Amino acid sequence: MKMVRVLTYGTYDLLHYGHIRLLKRAKKLGDYLIVALSTDEFNEIKGKKAYHDYKTRKEMLEAIRYVDLVIPENDWEQKIDDVKKYFVDVVVMGSDWVNNEKFECLRDYCEVVYLPRTEGISTTKIKQDLNLTEPINGLNQIPEVKKIVFKKQV
Ligand code: CTP
Repeated sequence: MKMVRVLTYGTYDLLHYGHIRLLKRAKKLGDYLIVALSTDEFNEIKGKKAYHDYKTRKEMLEAIRYVDLVIPENDWEQKIDDVKKYFVDVVVMGSDWVNNEKFECLRDYCEVVYLPRTEGISTTKIKQDLNLTEPINGLNQIPEVKKIVFKKQV
């Protein structure tokens, strides 16, 4: 029987259960799951700044049982090449990308599936809730961290 290969794209910063559920459902669509992980340079192009660098985000994704391979996502234009190079049967994305031409154009090459997002969680929300929207040294804005720093000084 033919092995079904699934591919998905994302930044996967501050890994959370919305990510895990997406990856679990993506893997169920086939036998082999590839994650194309946005590089730090590509995030910059997208106007995004990840807390963890590419190497760290890759290491964490590779530790997830549903993920078989992590490849870099360097630009918007590589998707058709990825599908051909890795013999991909299904590209899957969260429903935030539904009907987006960036993925719709892949229908000539493979199946395209959008899965519903998990409600109530995102990397952006975690950062906002922790007041981490400022650069990393904004850590000192977290009351708990302030307390620790204060205790050490005393
Ligand atoms: N995802 C999901 N449910 C969530 C959050 C993300 O299913 N609650 C999916 C996205 O649709 C995408 C993948 O997880 O297919 C990676 O998403 P990513 O953009 O890296 O994560 P977000 O938490 O959405 O990050 P941000 O807030 O920075 O956009």
